[in-house]
Amino acid sequence: MSEPQFSPGLAGVVAGKSGVGLVNGTDGILLYRGYRVEDLAEHCTFEEVAHLLLKGKLPNREELSAFDAELKARRALPAGILALLRTLPTKTHPMAALQSAVAALSGFYPAPDAADRAASWEGILRLTASMPTIVAAFHRIRQGKDVVDPDLTQGMAGDFLTMLNGEKPTDKAARLFDVCLVLHAEHGFNASTFTGRVVGSSLADIYASMSAAVGSLSGPLHGGANEEVLVQLKEIPNAEAAPAWFDHMIETKQKVMGLGHRVYKVKDPRAGILQRMASDLFSTEGSTPLYDIAHAIEQRAAVKVGPKGVWPNVDFYSGLVYQKLGLTVDLFTPIFAIARIAGWSAHWMEQMEDNRIYRPDCIYTGPNDLTVPAIDAR
Ligand code: COA
Repeated sequence: MSEPQFSPGLAGVVAGKSGVGLVNGTDGILLYRGYRVEDLAEHCTFEEVAHLLLKGKLPNREELSAFDAELKARRALPAGILALLRTLPTKTHPMAALQSAVAALSGFYPAPDAADRAASWEGILRLTASMPTIVAAFHRIRQGKDVVDPDLTQGMAGDFLTMLNGEKPTDKAARLFDVCLVLHAEHGFNASTFTGRVVGSSLADIYASMSAAVGSLSGPLHGGANEEVLVQLKEIPNAEAAPAWFDHMIETKQKVMGLGHRVYKVKDPRAGILQRMASDLFSTEGSTPLYDIAHAIEQRAAVKVGPKGVWPNVDFYSGLVYQKLGLTVDLFTPIFAIARIAGWSAHWMEQMEDNRIYRPDCIYTGPNDLTVPAIDAR
């Protein structure tokens, strides 16, 4: 029998078929169900994009208002979830709080049978609507502040910022944040989406599947990278020092966060949009030295690692935008999650349409033919 092929990180392995999103890493193109992400970011709200991903089409006015009403009806949290969040130590990372609350939701609503489409759809609506409420509520609880109830007169983006900060954002800030949600809503067979599909393939319910996806997103090589970007940028005293800092990182074989991607070998299209948003925001609302430092790093990286396909990814500029919107660093990944729930759920439903449990092979590297010695002889 021939030795099975092994691809670390499953790179290049085709593990499924999907009509949800396309990532073309050679040309830097990202499509959600056929639409370019730049087009969607310019013309659509997160709710419209969630409808597109989950229901397969951009909504007309009537469909959007019905979908919006369904989400609004599910924005508030059951008292028991708030009680759960209050029992967590205040130092709990918001991703851990989110993962716990997402899993716990299955105890508050009839645990949906994964094969029951209607029951699972109810769970998907509930998660899409209420994950922002969970993140905002835990942030206030850990600060010793009162939880702010959802304001159903606002869209998801504006209401999230209101529930988080206790005051309504400007229209500009709400729209900016809305665009960030659009940019993070879907990205093909990445680690967290794949995790959600793998867990779902065992017919685990939607809450179990999505809580696992949250856990996968929390790692620094995936969603957690946007936190690390700011940590690294803050190590650099100014833009003039950036090239030497960058060279040192490369010479000592350290990863520069926010650069590189398994699929994109050119600049991530989302990074381009976020960079323009950051530069617009800083030109009207005052700049930060971190933006100049980031820009200097990008220029140095283009020369040093660009030729081997390492360019800025979505995380490189997103943290700078979030920081300007007044969001604390450890909320960056939960924000990613409240957007990505749309993509995760769309993939999960697709998995259920044509499901076979994931069970890859591995190459056994352990010993053979051992026999158990008597306990005193070991
Ligand atoms: N900084 C410096 N060099 C990098 C780099 C980075 N962020 N990302 C990749 N490279 C280099 C590697 O050192 C390697 O070089 P080599 O061939 O000379 O050894 C080459 O590019 C390939 O990198 P590799 O780690 O094998 O790619 P991958 O596809 O396994 O990993 C990432 C992809 C995203 C995990 C990786 O680029 C990374 O760790 N980036 C930083 C974390 C990040 O921003 N994650 C968010 C992704 S959206």
